[in-house]
Amino acid sequence: MTNRQEMATTKKKASFTGSLGFVLAAAGSAVGLGNIWRFPYLAAKHGGGLFIIVYIILALTFGFALLTTDIAIGRKTGKSALQAYGDLSKKWNFLGALSFIVPAIILTYYSVVGGWIIKFATDYIVKDTSAIAVDGYFGSFITSNVSPIVFTFIFLALTAIIVFFGVDKGIEKFSKFVMPGLIFLIIGISIFSLTLSHTDASGVTRNGLDGLTRYFIPDFSKVTVQSFFQLLLDATGQLFYSLSVAMGIMITYGSYVKKDVNLSKSVSQIEIFDTAVAILSGLMIVPTVFIFSGEAGLQNSGAGLMFNALPKVFEAMGPIGKYIGILFFIMVLFAALTSSVSIMETIVASCMGFFKSSRKKTSLIIAAIFAAASIVICLGYNIWYFEFTLPNGSVGQLLDIMDYLSNSILMPIISLLTCVLIGWLLKPQTIIEEIEIGGVKFKKKGLYTVIIKFVAPVMLALILAQALGLTNFLFK
Ligand code: ALA
Repeated sequence: MTNRQEMATTKKKASFTGSLGFVLAAAGSAVGLGNIWRFPYLAAKHGGGLFIIVYIILALTFGFALLTTDIAIGRKTGKSALQAYGDLSKKWNFLGALSFIVPAIILTYYSVVGGWIIKFATDYIVKDTSAIAVDGYFGSFITSNVSPIVFTFIFLALTAIIVFFGVDKGIEKFSKFVMPGLIFLIIGISIFSLTLSHTDASGVTRNGLDGLTRYFIPDFSKVTVQSFFQLLLDATGQLFYSLSVAMGIMITYGSYVKKDVNLSKSVSQIEIFDTAVAILSGLMIVPTVFIFSGEAGLQNSGAGLMFNALPKVFEAMGPIGKYIGILFFIMVLFAALTSSVSIMETIVASCMGFFKSSRKKTSLIIAAIFAAASIVICLGYNIWYFEFTLPNGSVGQLLDIMDYLSNSILMPIISLLTCVLIGWLLKPQTIIEEIEIGGVKFKKKGLYTVIIKFVAPVMLALILAQALGLTNFLFK
């Protein structure tokens, strides 16, 4: 293909082939490390049941409003994040630039964590489960010199290849292939985990029912006003990370949706998909870790839950653990890839619009830039290791700082400003009209208006205040 032909192809507006392709691609973006790694750890931290109930309520209200807004902005303007806000209102162009920064920050570390997943998937194929379960295995891998960088590059290359092939032939095709398989695997592993039982060294036996109880039944005796406030903030933060809102992603994907697609229905389907996978991921991980390692194992939080606690569980399962380990990490890899594809696509699409460059050339340049950036993040566990106390009190290194900047600071700011723009300046009718194109009935428009004008701004201001350490006095 000549350069001119390629430019001509690029100019034809890219789009998803239809509603199913869009829903699966958007659900692919939403379902990622947030669901499989972050949700189970937060659910475990907050005692299970109550967190799940609060999360579902928030998903149906707060999550629904933010997701609807992003997708409708994308479809209305037909532009990716960087240009879309300016299209709505010239003075708000800066919000597009802010939305562009978020995926750019996230991709630097998402690809590193993606690399860790490829490493574990290949380890389960070639090694014994006992070798992967030894104390310090994960730590010694991420602090090594070359290996994390190589695995990160492999993950980035896979992501870039899919983005390179474009919206319908790359992203949509891959999502249609991966997402049904992902659901099948998660349900299979969850059911299997509930059939397990284990007696620990002190003679205590725990089975699937104990695990299920620990995950689903709320323990109100431990709930205090402070702990509930923290739970509410964690669930809200988790929700908009998980739904890929405030990252420019859903705006970009929305811009590929044809006008005849029923956005109201699609938003509900994406939400149900994302929330179901989060709850099922918890069901796959929390009871299993509880059965094999008890409460102490569950408190092994964050990255540790997936990379330190689970390998011990797979080892304790006996010979079948190796195969469960392979399936589990391949599944996480698929989930992470469909999300990283959406993150890179948002950056590539914005750059294509800004520089008027072709998809192929832009994908290659962006992949090279992020390969370089991710080396810095990898070295943050090596020669550039340092610890930094963040304003919210948690201590982090380079990767945690990037995560904090994007998720805790920029995303609430972008969402808050979007609520001001849509709720108060342009008015919710701007979004409602887009949803109602073609006579679609937007049944929840009343709820949408109340949330976007009042509820979401308050919640977002609270999250931001917490991230900046302004609510620390409440937890003294
Ligand atoms: N929404 C994506 C995830 O959950 C970013 O990982």
